[in-house]
This record gives sequence, C-alpha cells and structure tokens, in this order.
Amino acid sequence: MENNRYLKALALMGVGGAHPGGLHLTKHILAREEINANMTILDAGCGTGQTAAYIADQFQCRVTALDNSEMMLEKARERFSGKNLPIDIRQGNIENLSYRDDLFNMVVFESVLAFTDISRSIAECKRVLKPDGVFYAIEMVLEKKLPEHELKPIIDFYGIARLLTEAEWRDLFSAAGFWNVRAEVFNLPFGDVDLDNTRDFLLSETIDDDMFDILQEHEQLTALYAEQLGFRIFRCSV
Ligand SMILES: C[S@@+](CC[C@H](N)C(=O)[O-])C[C@H]1O[C@@H](n2cnc3c(N)ncnc32)[C@H](O)[C@@H]1O
Repeated sequence: MENNRYLKALALMGVGGAHPGGLHLTKHILAREEINANMTILDAGCGTGQTAAYIADQFQCRVTALDNSEMMLEKARERFSGKNLPIDIRQGNIENLSYRDDLFNMVVFESVLAFTDISRSIAECKRVLKPDGVFYAIEMVLEKKLPEHELKPIIDFYGIARLLTEAEWRDLFSAAGFWNVRAEVFNLPFGDVDLDNTRDFLLSETIDDDMFDILQEHEQLTALYAEQLGFRIFRCSV
C-alpha cells in the first residue's frame, strides 16, 4: 500500500465507507442477504472497518476485518474500541490468505479487488468460502472505451493494473469457478443518501497537504469521467 498514494491518502484521512455508495449502499446490499448470528463473514480490505462494525452490530455474527494496511487497521481498532463487537481484526493479504478452506459464509469486497491481483484474490476467496457461500464486490467498471492517453492517467492515479469492463469482471469471476454471477447497477440517489452515516473520517495527527490534493483529484476524476467510469455490485456464488 505504501506505493499507492491514493490508498495512502485514504488511510491517513481514515476514510470510512471508501467505496461508491458508502454505508448507504452497504446497508442496501446486506438487507437482501439472509445473515444470521451463526455465520462467519470476512470483510476483505476492511479499511477503517465501517462495514465490519455495521455487520457485527446488526447481525451479531462473527466478522473478520482484514486489511494489509496497519494504518487502516489502527483506525478500525479505534472504531471498534469499547463496543464489544464480535470482530476479529487481522493484518493480511487478500491474495494469500492464512485461513483454512471452506471457512466463511460470506466475503465482502468493497472497492478492494481492483487494487489487488484480481485473479489471485478471487481464487483465494473461492478457497476460503464454504461451498454454499457467497461474495459480493463493489467495483469500478469502464462503461465506455477511453483512448490510451486518457486511460493511463486514471490507472496510474488509482495505482491499479487495469480498468475492467463489466464483461471482463464477469469473465474473471467465472474463470475462478463462480458460475452464478450477478452484476447490478446502482444509481446513487442524490439527496436521498444517508449522509450522516455514509462517510466518516478518522484523521491521522499529521497529514501532508498533497494528501488532501489526492482526494480532491479523485473527486475531479470521477466527475470528469462520470460517463466512462461507473461501478457495479457483483454478487457471486458457485
Ligand atoms: C478503497 S479502500 C476501501 C476500504 C473499505 N473496504 C471501505 O469501503 O471503506 C481499499 C482497501 O483495500 C486494502 N487493500 C488493498 N490491497 C490489499 C491486499 N492485497 N490485501 C489486503 N487489503 C488490501 C487497502 O489497504 C484499503 O484499506
């Protein structure tokens, strides 16, 4: 993560709900799942743990909040402290998980896979999910072709290998053995978002000015390429 300036800025700001739709969308997705207290859920790339805290509190099931950034995890610990939530916080790499096979009922990726070696991460997800388990991922997609000279700055800014179309994401999920792949567009309802609950910040004590610039650049890029960059909610099972 240290080499990825965008992720570093998110960690320093301690942005909670650092995915399109924020906690508002997370609640919407989870409300449709049948989650009970006997389940075990992995929030893979949990960041500051907003979603992990919500799941543990709402469903009282066991949650593992995993991230490879110690700074993110520090902030997740701060968020969870004193709340007595059933959350296990772990530092780890999604591409190479230390968990046994068939452990989790659900894996959650909220704006995470694109920052990893996607094929390796999905293979690991398949391995640690129970056979009847499910994962969902909220991921950026390329809606319309962009010329290379416009695509490259976006890819470089986010520090990702490439920007995938919905069809390319689907192919990767299917190739990993997830035959049931659902992709959903979610239109962010302007003015109807639960703003109090969507984003929160757990700021580090010292933050260089250029880190603020990075988050601003993110807002500018998403506005500039609003027609070409979208996102999907993928829900996959075997
Ligand atoms: C855009 S943030 C999203 C954080 C969180 N899911 C949220 O929605 O607020 C991406 C997160 O993925 C984590 N991450 C990136 N690559 C990872 C990897 N290989 N293993 C574990 N975590 C990773 C980053 O540290 C960061 O916390």
